[in-house]
Amino acid sequence: MGKIKLALLSGGISSEREVSLSGAYQVYDVLDKEKYDITRYDPATDLLQLVKDAESIDAALLILHGPYGEDGTVQGLLELLDIPYQGAGVLGSALAMNKLASKRMYEQAGIPVPAYLDFVKGEKVDIHGCVQTLGLPIVVKPASAGSSVGMTIVKKEKDLEAAIAKAFDQDETILLEEYVKGLELTCAVLGNQDVEALPVIEIIPGEGHEFFDYEAKYVVGRTQEICPARIEDSVRDRVQELAVTAHKSLFLRGYSRSDMILSDQGVVVLETNTIPGMTETSLLPRAAKVGGYAFPELLDRLIELSMEKRRAV
Ligand SMILES: Nc1ncnc2c1ncn2[C@@H]1O[C@H](COP(=O)(O)OP(=O)(O)O)[C@@H](O)[C@H]1O
Ligand SMILES: [Mg+2]
Repeated sequence: MGKIKLALLSGGISSEREVSLSGAYQVYDVLDKEKYDITRYDPATDLLQLVKDAESIDAALLILHGPYGEDGTVQGLLELLDIPYQGAGVLGSALAMNKLASKRMYEQAGIPVPAYLDFVKGEKVDIHGCVQTLGLPIVVKPASAGSSVGMTIVKKEKDLEAAIAKAFDQDETILLEEYVKGLELTCAVLGNQDVEALPVIEIIPGEGHEFFDYEAKYVVGRTQEICPARIEDSVRDRVQELAVTAHKSLFLRGYSRSDMILSDQGVVVLETNTIPGMTETSLLPRAAKVGGYAFPELLDRLIELSMEKRRAV
C-alpha cells in the first residue's frame, strides 16, 4: 500500500489559532513520514486549495480549536468533499462547541451539571436575581468560546454586569454557572463503536490562577497535571462512566475529552472537547500515554478510526 495522503489542518480564524498552530507543529513532527504523505492547510488562507486537492486526499487530521474549526463548519466542508477526518461529525461538533446545547443533552442523559442560567444578547438580566439563584461566586462564560476566553469568576454582585458584557463580546449566548468548588478532573475517551475511557487526569492550577485559565492551560509549568488522578477507584469509575456517557449524549465519535469537577456533592461535568489539545504534553496525549498509546501511536489510531466506515452522524 502507498502512503496515506494526509491533510493536516491547523491555524484557522478562532481565538485559539496560536494553540492550534503549535499543536500541529508537534503533530507534524512526530507523524511517521514513511506512512503519511502530509500537506498542511490553514483554513484562514488555504480552503480553496483544499477543495482543489480533495480528490487526492485520503484523510484529514484537524488540529483546530474553537469556532470555525471545532464547531462542525470545517467538518461540513470535509463531508461535502468526502474526506474522512478524525473525531466528531457535524452534529456532534456543533453540539459540543455550544456549552448550553451540551448541557441540555447532558441533562437528558442524566449527567449532573452545575446549576446555571442562560441569556441571549439584548435580554434583560436581573443581576440580583442571578445572585440569589446561583449564589456567589458565579462563573460567567460565553456559550461557545474555548480556552476560557471571555470567562470570568465573579465574586461580588457589583462585578457581574461587566463580566456579562465581556462574555457577550464573544458570543450571542452566555451562561452563568454556580461556582463548583472542588478538584478538577478531565477524562478522555477513544474509539468508534467500542468507546474506551482513558486514565483520569487531575488538574491543579498553579499559584496565582484561580481557575484553569488561558495561561494556566498553555504556559508550561503553570499547572500541575497528575495522571492517573489520585482519586478513589469508585470516583475514577464514575468519572470514566460520565466521560463515555457525555461522549455518547453529544453524538460524538472517535474521541473526546470531558472536563469535570469533583466536589462534596459528587462529580459535575463542565464541557466536552471534540478536538482536545494536541501537543505532546496536552491532557489527552498524556492520558493516552498512561493508557498505553505513545503520541505517534495515538495519532495513528485517530487517523485509523477516522478512516473506518463512518456512521451517519
Ligand atoms: N461552574 C464552575 N465552577 C468552578 N470552576 C469552573 C466552572 N466552570 C468553569 N470553571 C473553571 O474554568 C475552566 C474553563 O471552563 P470550561 O467550562 O472547561 O471552558 P473552556 O475550557 O472551554 O474554557 C475550568 O477548567 C475550571 O477551572
Ligand atoms: Mg475546559
